[in-house]
Parts: sequence; C-alpha cells; structure tokens
Amino acid sequence: MLASFRITKDILAGTDFSPCAAAVTCPPIRLPHLGRCILQAVTLMLLGIFICSSFVGAETGREAWLRYAPSSQRASGNYKHQNIRIFRGGDSLVLETAERELIRGLSGMLGPGWFTSGRLPGAIMFNRSARSKTLHPPSPVEEDGFWMSTQRCQETDCIMIAGGGDRGVLYGVFALLRKIARGENITALNEVQNPSVKIRWVDQWDNLDGTIERGYAGPSIFFDGGNVRADLARASEYARLLASLGINGCNVNNVNANPRTLQSDFLPQLARIADVFRPWGVRLSLSVDLSSPKAIGGLDTFDPLDAKVAAWWSAKAGEIYRLIPDFGGFTVKADSEGRVGPSSYGRTPADAANAIARALAPHGGVLFYRAFVYNHHLDWRDPKADRARAAYDIFQPMDGKFDDNVIIQIKHGPIDFQAREPVSPLFSGLEKTTEAIELQVTQEYTGQQRHLVFLAPMWKEILDFDLNGSMNDHPHAVAPGTQREDKKKREEKPHQYVKELVSGEVFHRPSGGYVAVVNVGMDENWLAHPLAMANLYAYGRLAWNPDLSAREICEEWTRLTFGSNPVVVRAVSDIAMKSWPTYENYTGFLGTQTLTDITGSHYGPNIESSEENGWGQWHRADAKGIGMDRSVAAGTGYAGQYRPDVAKMYESLATTPDELVLFFHHVPYTYVLHSGKTVIQHVYDSHYEGASEVAEFVREWKLLKGKIDDERYNDVLARLEYQAGHAIVWRDAICNYFLRLSGIPDARSRAGNFLGRIEAESMVPTAYAPVEVTPWENASGGKGIECRDAHGCSASFRFAGSTGKYEIDLEYFDQNNGASKFRVLVNGQAVDKWVADDRLPAKRIGGDSSTRRRIHNVDLHAGDEIQIEGVPDGEEHAGLDYVEVFPERD
Ligand code: GCU
Repeated sequence: MLASFRITKDILAGTDFSPCAAAVTCPPIRLPHLGRCILQAVTLMLLGIFICSSFVGAETGREAWLRYAPSSQRASGNYKHQNIRIFRGGDSLVLETAERELIRGLSGMLGPGWFTSGRLPGAIMFNRSARSKTLHPPSPVEEDGFWMSTQRCQETDCIMIAGGGDRGVLYGVFALLRKIARGENITALNEVQNPSVKIRWVDQWDNLDGTIERGYAGPSIFFDGGNVRADLARASEYARLLASLGINGCNVNNVNANPRTLQSDFLPQLARIADVFRPWGVRLSLSVDLSSPKAIGGLDTFDPLDAKVAAWWSAKAGEIYRLIPDFGGFTVKADSEGRVGPSSYGRTPADAANAIARALAPHGGVLFYRAFVYNHHLDWRDPKADRARAAYDIFQPMDGKFDDNVIIQIKHGPIDFQAREPVSPLFSGLEKTTEAIELQVTQEYTGQQRHLVFLAPMWKEILDFDLNGSMNDHPHAVAPGTQREDKKKREEKPHQYVKELVSGEVFHRPSGGYVAVVNVGMDENWLAHPLAMANLYAYGRLAWNPDLSAREICEEWTRLTFGSNPVVVRAVSDIAMKSWPTYENYTGFLGTQTLTDITGSHYGPNIESSEENGWGQWHRADAKGIGMDRSVAAGTGYAGQYRPDVAKMYESLATTPDELVLFFHHVPYTYVLHSGKTVIQHVYDSHYEGASEVAEFVREWKLLKGKIDDERYNDVLARLEYQAGHAIVWRDAICNYFLRLSGIPDARSRAGNFLGRIEAESMVPTAYAPVEVTPWENASGGKGIECRDAHGCSASFRFAGSTGKYEIDLEYFDQNNGASKFRVLVNGQAVDKWVADDRLPAKRIGGDSSTRRRIHNVDLHAGDEIQIEGVPDGEEHAGLDYVEVFPERD
C-alpha cells in the first residue's frame, strides 16, 4: 500500500523570532499572530503507511548512525495520520541545513511504532534565540549549545529548539532526532545542553595524492592524484556525520604536510572543501609545513623570527581568508620525526607558534602546535634517555609564552597511541597555555580496524584521570598493608581531571579542545570495520560530554546503527566493552605498550623492533627482567613530571598499578604483581585469556544471525574470525618469545606446547620448501614453507586421531603482493579452497600476514591423508605455517 507524504512550505513575514519564542514560555503561542516573526513553516503530512526512501536497499554502513530507520512496527501497515508543522526562525545556511535534516530524519523515522514511545507534537520550532533576553532557559546556553523544550504553541503541543547560535540549533535538531531514533519519550522536554569545550575537531592525515597516512579504509575522500576530488559528495556526508556529534572543525591534510597545500593555485581547490563543510558548521583547517615560506614562498629562510617570514604568513593567511572566510586555522608538526622546525634557526616552538598565530589572529583563526616533538635518534644504550619525557621537557618551560590563539595539541599519552600508556603529564604542566587532547580513532596501534577495539573505555580512563592525584581510586594506588588515605581528605584536595584540564576549566583558560585523528576513507562504511564507527561516535559524544559512560555511548550507538532489539544492543555492547582489555591482553602487557613492529607496519607482533634503535619505544627486556625504569630515584626521572601525588604513586613499585608497572619500573620476571601473579605468568595467562576471549566474541556474534541485516552481520563475522586467528598469532609470538628469553615455563604448560599442531615444515612436501621466518617468534617453530614453483606445490600428512567430525585450522601467509590459491584435500577429495587475496599490511611471510583458515565439519578417520595445495602468485609464495585438527566445536 502506498502512503501519501506531503511537505508544504510557507514563509510567515516578520523580523525577529525571539519574542515569539519567548511567548511560548508563558501564554501559548498563537500562530496566526506571528506577524513580527520570520518563520518558515514546513508541514509534514503523514497519511497512511509510510514509504521511506532512506531505508531501502542493503545496509552498507554509509549512513552510519544517521540511518533514520523506521521502527519495526512500521511494517505492520497500521494507518496513522499526523500533521507536523516545522517553523524555522531565521535564515542562514546552517539553519537551512537544520531544517532539511529535521525533515529528512522525521521522514525516515515517523510511523506507528514511534507513537508507542512518545507522542508526536503538532509543531517543531527552532531558532537561535537561546541567548536573547526574551528567553529564559533553565540554565545559560552557550554559542554551540541549545535548549530543547516542550511547549504549548497555539493550542498545540510543540517542541522548541533554541540554539545559542546557528550550530547550536543544528546540534539541537540532531539531539532531538537521536532521541526519536532511540524511542525516547519526548513529551516533556526541558533540557539545556552545552558542549564541554569550544574546540571539537577531527584531523585527517590525508595526502594530496589520495593516500592516507595510517588510514585503513581506502583512499582519501578529499584528494586524488594531487588535486581536490571533483566529486566531494563523501566530504559533505562526512561533515554531516561530524555535525551530528557536534564536531565543528576538520583538518583535512596530513600533519606531515606537503608545502603544496598552501600554494596560491591550490587554495581555490581547498575552498571547495570548505564550501561543502560550511552548511554543517564544520570549519576547514590545514596542516602546514613550517618551511613553507622558503619551500613555496620564494624566501631564503623560514626563521619564524625573521620579519619577512612573519609577513609571508600574514599574507598567506589573508589570501586564505579571502577565499574561506570561516577558515579554522593551521596545525603544525615541527622538529618531530624528520620534519623541520624552529630548531633549524635555534628558535623555540613558542617563537614558531606565535609567528603563525599572529597571522591568523586578525581573522579569528587558531594555531594548533603539536606537542608530539621528540628526538628519534636517542641513544638506546643510555639508561637515562627517555622519549616519554620529551613533550613535558620541551613545552612545560614555555608555559605562558604562547599567544592566546595558540593551542598546544597533546597526545593522550607520552609515547604514541599505544594500547596502554599513562596520561601525559603535560596536561597539568601547562597552566597559562591553552591545550587540546589528541586522541586517535584510526586504530594505528590497536589493530588497524581489522581487530575490534572499542576505544571509549580507554579514553574514559584518560579523561577521568586526576592529574592532581587526589581522586584516583585505583585499587593498587596504595601499597598493600599501608593505611589508605582518608577519602574525605582526598576529596578536599582540588582535583585536576584531564577532561577539566583540556576544557580550560582548571586553569581558567578561555578555551580548550579535543582533536581526534580519524582517517575515514572512501570505503563505503568509512572506517572499514562496521564496528569501528563506534569509535568516531564515542569520540564526538565524549568531546561534547565527557561525563557520559563508555557503556551508555556504546548502547546509544548500537541502537542507532543496528536498531533497538535488546538482544543486539546487549551483545554488541558487551563485545565492544570487552574489546580493549582483550586486545591489550593478547598484545603488549603491563605497560610495555603495543609490542608491534614499530619501525614498519605497526600491526602484527614484533617484540625486538622496539629495542636497540633511536625511536625510544623501549621495554628493555633481557633474560632476567623487563620494563623501563622511569623513577626519579634510579631511572629516567619521567615519573617526576607528574604533580606530587601522582609522581609518588608511580615512583614506587609498590603503588604503581599493575597495568603500568613495566612502563615505570624494570623488574625480574618473577616479580609478584598486585594480582598475586608473577610477571611471566601474567604474560602467559593474559595472552591465552585474550585469544580465547576473541574466540568467544565470534560465538557471541553468531547469536545475532537474523537479528541484524546479513551484510553487516557477515562482514563483522568475517572480521572477528580473522581477529580470533590473529590473536593466536600474537599470543604465540609473545608467549614463545618470553618463554625462550626468561627460561621460565608456563605454570599451566600451555606456552611452547602445541599438542596436535602439525608444522608445515614437518609435512611431506612436493615442491614446497622450508623457509626461516624473521623474527622467529612470528611463525610456529620459527619456520614455514613456501612454493616457488609456478605450477604449484603440496604438503601432506596422515591424520592420527580417531574417527569423527573435525575442524581443520590452517595457518597460512596472506601477503598483499600476490593472490595465491589454496586447496585442502582429504584422501584426494577437496574439502575447501580459497584465494589468499586479503590486503594485509605485509609484503612477506610473518606476523603481519599470518592468517587462519578454519574448515568446519570434516569427516576424518585414522590414517586419512590431509593434503594442502598451494599455487603462488606474484611475490606471494603460498606460504604455510601449520595445521591443527580439533574435534568440531561449532
Ligand atoms: C605516529 C604515526 C605517524 C604520524 C605521527 C604523528 O608516529 O606513526 O604516521 O605521523 O604519529 O602523530 O605525527
């Protein structure tokens, strides 16, 4: 049956909406008497069964949390009639966007099912009058904030969204739509929402050639082949997603900036991106290379204190603002990881930051100067050398020397987005300087969107950490046996939560900020893994309100993304909430950081890559012990960069929480943790727990079959199955490595004992040849086999178990420089075949390429011949590691 759906618009004449809006707070508003108001009214007529154009076809994830899906009752065919009038007070690009979005959202969602959770009002009105004298919201509304209330307007119920400014209105509209989408009751609204902080930005590390540094979801949505894309539809959709979370700025190019970005002939192209951002209230900003005045400006210097250089920046800023009047500002990465900086001229970061900030100031722009400055040629033999110290050592002494429109952008930890780091002490080290926290949505060190890692629980720990030490209630913050500090006394001490430091509250700064490196790409669902978008959602929600809990954000996201089936909401949230500790369990441990290939892919295990080089991500493991001594008494002194109570906690081994003990202390493998386990037993136990937890995720996810759409169900399932296999690669690499290094066996005899595992190099080969894998721990037994014969090779073995149904797990190597073909045969009968064509970050066999294929329900009898055939392709030689055969578990 077809529904009739009609939208009519008419403009009511007038000049000022506020008095009308004010009227709704007292006598009911009389629509016919709105003569003095600019009101644009849109009437949504919903007649009969609704056909929703935004909810047809497969679920690709492209709509993310803005699906505006009708509730399931919609399909029931009940007849309903409703007539909603929408009034827009005022004219602007952003207000028009708000109106369109409201219509789009209501059009998608309204229906019989919606009536069950909240009544539809007769009218929705929105305007930017929340800060006018005539409105009296229950608490003050800031520029980006809004007041949402239910009123009586002309004898009809209405919802009024009064924003502090245009963006506030838009955010209020999104907030209302979110409520409706979650089925909340909206009959008695009276809430003011203000963002926690003025600056809520995202960074993209997109290169002008269309690649993205640390991007895992396809090419850039902005650039292609050295130019801004002709079609910016995805950029516009991205801005909509950002706006829906209250994000108001986006830096579009890599912090390792190409000077070409600022060339005069390129700027008009960038202005086109700003044009598609503008309707969503998202300001464009750019990363700049500090050497630009010389590299593209024709000057013989980029010394920030040279007047010519200052004039160049000033002229460049003027040129940009003429093209992009709402331009946000610049981000600078300097003197870091090979980028040039003020040190080339003996100048300080403050000299450089201020020179550029002064060029932006007349236009209202800001300059983000990244505190990610460190020497990557440290002497690893020097026990006092410590990369973790760098940001504080460099920036804290300059506190107060930065202009007001300079924002020091500080990564959340002192190293680099590791799976676990302490909070950067610099947040509490800057009292007279505006600061922003830098988080990472793109999962560089946390599984690159091939592993599910919901990061909000980690971010919450960071944001809720009290850098003054009074309110950290960690179970091990006090040595066992000592008197726990009196709680009341602690509460009397002023706290310095990270969320209050970055909002500027603690030191009364005019502003502060949140920045997240997101790196969405052209992949249909933005971040490749359908569940990874929960991280972008959580980032935006936390920047708006850091007091939200990770669990409630996750549930909210799940409802919007997959619908409100309570089974789905619970299962997705349960899995997501466990995913970060699980990832930490099977990768780095106790504060050693992510034990990955830090000079290469940042993906699979590679324990020694952190050591004996200048990058400073050391864990100092040797045969006797492990950990970096960062104490003041005997180590690098890093612990002393914290305020006294926190410094005291980390200085002592006895009071350092287990999860960071090896970040702060060097201990023997036999050291007993607060948990009661030795360090080495913790290594074994946590890795086995982590790997089996991911296998559990697979089982939990399978229970959702039929409860969500097949496309996303299957996509997530395939990714979780891959993750379960790769978690075993991680587990075995770490356990085997530390077993060999420490010589201390696993008390539960798992590490190093793989009963039933058949190594590929021990099979009967036809043309396959053994090959050493480097590092050795990244392949079982340190070896695999490879096929160098273009016609193919095979390897076989005899099954030694008893008759039954079995699962065959085959560990092979899937590189990105070929697509080898595999077949598995039992007594000459093929039971499975596949092509190894995944795009893992790996050009050779090892921990990055190691992949598990699971073949279910294979009938086996003692003595059966199991044969694996491999046909190489390109540079990929159909590499095999081992096979395991288990009684069927599914
Ligand atoms: C990490 C990352 C780099 C990036 C850098 C930064 O080191 O691996 O790709 O450029 O952080 O934040 O500047």
